[in-house]
Amino acid sequence: MNKTAKINFEKISLPNSGTIVLFTTKSNKLSDTAKELDTNNNKFITKAIKAADFKSAKSSILEIISPTITEPKTAKYDRIILVGLGENKAHTKLDWRNLGGSLAAHLLAKNIESATVLVETETDPEFIANLGHGITLRQYKFDKYKTSAQKDQSKEEETKETNLQKVAIQSEEATAAKKLFTNSLSPVQHGVFAARDLVNEPGNILGPNEYAKRIKALSSLGLGIKVLTDKELKTEKMNSLLSVGEGSRQGSYLAIMEWKGAAKTEQPLAIIGKGVTFDTGGISIKGAGGMEDMKGDMGGSATVVGLMQTLAKRKAKINAVGVVGLVENMPDGQATRPGDIVTSKSGQTIEVINTDAEGRLVLADALWYTQEKFNPKYMINLATLTGAIMVALGKEYAGLFSNNDELAEMLVASGKDTGEQVWRMPLGELGSSYDKLINSTFADMKNTGGRWGGAITAAQFLQRFVNETPWAHIDIAGVAMASNKSPINQSWGSGYGVDLLNNWIEENFEK
Ligand code: BES
Ligand code: MN
Ligand code: ZN
Repeated sequence: MNKTAKINFEKISLPNSGTIVLFTTKSNKLSDTAKELDTNNNKFITKAIKAADFKSAKSSILEIISPTITEPKTAKYDRIILVGLGENKAHTKLDWRNLGGSLAAHLLAKNIESATVLVETETDPEFIANLGHGITLRQYKFDKYKTSAQKDQSKEEETKETNLQKVAIQSEEATAAKKLFTNSLSPVQHGVFAARDLVNEPGNILGPNEYAKRIKALSSLGLGIKVLTDKELKTEKMNSLLSVGEGSRQGSYLAIMEWKGAAKTEQPLAIIGKGVTFDTGGISIKGAGGMEDMKGDMGGSATVVGLMQTLAKRKAKINAVGVVGLVENMPDGQATRPGDIVTSKSGQTIEVINTDAEGRLVLADALWYTQEKFNPKYMINLATLTGAIMVALGKEYAGLFSNNDELAEMLVASGKDTGEQVWRMPLGELGSSYDKLINSTFADMKNTGGRWGGAITAAQFLQRFVNETPWAHIDIAGVAMASNKSPINQSWGSGYGVDLLNNWIEENFEK
């Protein structure tokens, strides 16, 4: 699973054989090496560009197979691949990451085993490292449930066996790029892959029991792991969370992952995730169409688990705590009924109007517990919480709700930096008209707010379980699963949020 090509960073030195990747800019300006090869060999590159009407548009690719090379005499190349940079050069690290993704797609499709990439126009090590990062991210595969016979037959690129073993990235900044890649980007990639794997797993394999086991195994990375079981959750009075799992044959859990990379006295950053391993809707059962997607309703928790792995792998110099509620929402004789009233850990009572609005019931207790137990500096939760957020924002942005402008601004900035974008949505104060929509006739609140503004009333509900802590809720229903494909992500489960929050931590707490 997920064997990716070795990425090497080297000084520029054109090899004599194999596959060579060169960059061209708008109006087909060749890099130095390309120009030299072209001039010495009867303008074979210029001719190919003309014949193919190649425009060097960003991430476009022109492949010249087995060119006749007479100078240098010993050279014999399988392929010369030109990659367009578009206008002059690609300007952001995201551009370079995407270039890497597009290049990897080509190498994989052509079953190329190794390639040497000459980066002559770029000297920023961060950009060069991100080229390698993009190449690696693109190679993610989830084919563990395809038998080998099926794999051989499959014409889909996603499942076809590929042989890419090695990519050498040559540049003047090889040492710095390698350092960045190894210490900072590789840990992110591992966290993203871990999150994608968890989201892609079906509900029959990754139920709460198995999920809890996999989290326990992460102690080998140096994370402090604690898993609370049903019995302990009862003692902790987390009846809101527990009410969601009542209809399941499996246990419900709250898993806590601690990373201690700074002084004991430093307040931790807390990240909380919704881990509904399958959401049938419960007694308020969902329609059959597309219900299979609800195996991804643990996407928020997967981001938390991936992020904690990333922090541990790169030995981040901060304290962080990841908390995930693991439950399965099933209809059953024991299941919670619409109209049932539960008492949350906070003491507030909740009338469960709709058992399909279960994520907020899980998060209510997880948030309260985290805040009480860890007194975090900031608290961020991620959840595939509402269909309504997709109605509002589509699949381009996650929805951001926050009680703190500074935190919201930091997250918006990290979204721009990583390409995992968030759009801030309105959140009313306690007692505001938005907040009042979840008042209940029979209890302190109800778990749905009526027809309009469904993503907002969900956020208002969560806010009732947050005190003074600066807090943000990120609704990732549109971006965590069945997400838009991109040069660096072809997976159903995207791993959204690992990069975003890792960047937020790096930029704001480690510099
Ligand atoms: N897990 C769903 C939200 C969801 C829907 C995520 C589609 C990803 C894709 C959530 O538990 C849910 O069912 N929400 C309901 C809330 C409603 C009953 C108030 C919804 O959005 O319809
Ligand atoms: Mn639901
Ligand atoms: Zn759900």
